[in-house]
Amino acid sequence: MKLGVCYYPEHWPRAWWRTDAARMAEIGIRRVRIGEFAWSRIEPEPGAYAWEWLDAAIETLAAAGLEVVLGTPTATPPKWLINAHPDILAVDRHGRPRKFGSRRHYCFSSETYRRESARIVTDLAGRYGAHPAVVAWQTDNEYGCHDTIESYSDSAARAFRTWLEKRYGDVAALNEAWGAVFWSQEYRSFAEVEPPNLTVTEANPAHRLDFQRFSSDQVVSYNRLQTDIIRAHAPGRDVVHNFMGFFTAFDHFDVAADLDAATWDSYPLGFLEQGWWPDETKRRFMRQGHPDQAAFHHDLYRGVGRGRWQVMEQQPGPVNWAPYNPAPLPGMVRLWTWEAFAHGAEVVSYFRWRQAPFAQEQMHAGLLRPDSVEDAAAREARQVFSELALAHGASTQRAPVALLFSYEAQWMLDIQRQGASFDYTQLCFEWYSAFRRLGLDVDILDPRQDLTGYALIAAPSLPIVRGDLRDRLLNSNAALLIGPRSGSKTEQYRIAEGLPPGALRGLLPITISRVESLRPNHTEQVNGEGAVTRWFEHVDGDAEVVERTAAGAPVWLQHECATYVAGWPDETLLRRICESVCARAGIETVWLPEALRLRTLGDLHFAFNYGSEPVSLDSVGATEGMNFVIGGPTLPPAGVAAWRRMAR
Ligand code: GAL
Repeated sequence: MKLGVCYYPEHWPRAWWRTDAARMAEIGIRRVRIGEFAWSRIEPEPGAYAWEWLDAAIETLAAAGLEVVLGTPTATPPKWLINAHPDILAVDRHGRPRKFGSRRHYCFSSETYRRESARIVTDLAGRYGAHPAVVAWQTDNEYGCHDTIESYSDSAARAFRTWLEKRYGDVAALNEAWGAVFWSQEYRSFAEVEPPNLTVTEANPAHRLDFQRFSSDQVVSYNRLQTDIIRAHAPGRDVVHNFMGFFTAFDHFDVAADLDAATWDSYPLGFLEQGWWPDETKRRFMRQGHPDQAAFHHDLYRGVGRGRWQVMEQQPGPVNWAPYNPAPLPGMVRLWTWEAFAHGAEVVSYFRWRQAPFAQEQMHAGLLRPDSVEDAAAREARQVFSELALAHGASTQRAPVALLFSYEAQWMLDIQRQGASFDYTQLCFEWYSAFRRLGLDVDILDPRQDLTGYALIAAPSLPIVRGDLRDRLLNSNAALLIGPRSGSKTEQYRIAEGLPPGALRGLLPITISRVESLRPNHTEQVNGEGAVTRWFEHVDGDAEVVERTAAGAPVWLQHECATYVAGWPDETLLRRICESVCARAGIETVWLPEALRLRTLGDLHFAFNYGSEPVSLDSVGATEGMNFVIGGPTLPPAGVAAWRRMAR
């Protein structure tokens, strides 16, 4: 468990670097990420490198005993490069080229940009790959930030055609797969196919899905271009990328297959403000963030990184980019940091060292204020550092619950939402939140990952169920909890054979005969407590009906180890379903106070208070036998507690 920070030596006078490095080390920081936007300073003129400052910056950090994570600067191609090669620019869905002037203006499919990226990465990795202080490399920065995965440029159109040709072999197969006979969309050759933008109304959904898959694969291959070069020059160093929160435009599991660890950028207050939560929730948690939001991503990125993950950017104070940017409650930066470690983070790195008094992010806090005085976050980081040894040696183990998350599912359900409020990530988040509120640890996994050993496997929604997943679920001993729209589509974006749940019929002898989306002001009450909102399915078949709507339609069904939820359950219904399925799976649960969350790391048990009032662990059960190493049985606002169980 290490602390880190993001530093931009190119933003500050060289005379400050040594003091900055010494102050970082004094706070307890061990890792410093640098370089990821520094192209115009590394190569101020075409081919004329200015390495001297970067050499000196790395030496200065190394001399203070700090480890360096070096970012490749490809998120910010400089002006001279864009002027020389305007084909680098991405084109948005309205057909407009992106302009120079901020960042991420490149197109993943630009052959020129791939060549130029390979050149700068080769030269950077060639120079610093073997440097003893450079312990890790970050490729680019936040792929997709500012809506930049899809590009509709000529290069993208060409690459898309090649991708389609590889996938379908001949164009007749593509026409058949897409159902292109509909609205006379049939093609005579791959050369005729365009990206699916600027159409009069909805483009063919299979066309859109393939474009999304293609766009995701472009990120994978672009990232691999960088990782291959870095690995050749920097053997033994970790290669990582910093992913984002609530971002699904490419398949993160696929990109991470070429990385040593996943890292992500955690901004709990910004994400809450930007998110779907009701205004009252945003007000209540405005200084803390939603109690499940950071944890959801920690558990997701642990899965994405196949067990190895870090927080590359941790919010230290107010950010600049949400509609409202409040300051964290005193203690929250410490809580967020500890919570990440409790979920298995190897490093938590703050963004950024010193608040910049200039340019786009001048309203974004750092560990230091612009006048170099320590801000609140620096004091909290220092406190975490002083406590870190208490958790020494504890490591993550398998959770009782696996929650399946699929980027492809998000694309499919977005392409034909059918109800404006059907957001896949929100559904997954609500299910995750229900298990967390029940006091449980959750592993978030790709359906392609190994699912053995879990007591309960939950799939909030999985439109495509490929054969091998069906077989693995059929042969699993776990209790299965399956949500709406699962097994509803084929790979080619058609309604599943024999109607949904398609491939899952072996587990669930039911047929979904009709689906409907519900207006925001309408719910279907169930006989027990709770209701179905947003989405409702009409079910025929032989499964046992556990609960029905007041009108008598099945909502909650059970067949052997599988439970099916034929709609979008509200919090009350979801809680009852999760409690019941956990009980069947032999998993003990406890309904936690709204702002309290628990997490186990090896033999260490953690509790986190996201509330602005104190909370007692009595509500969780007996506190005797708890040997506290951090805090005690009553957690103050933003409080953290950690304990071991005393041997009986
Ligand atoms: C991240 C990004 C950083 C910085 C930060 C501000 O998305 O990677 O470069 O912009 O947000 O919160």
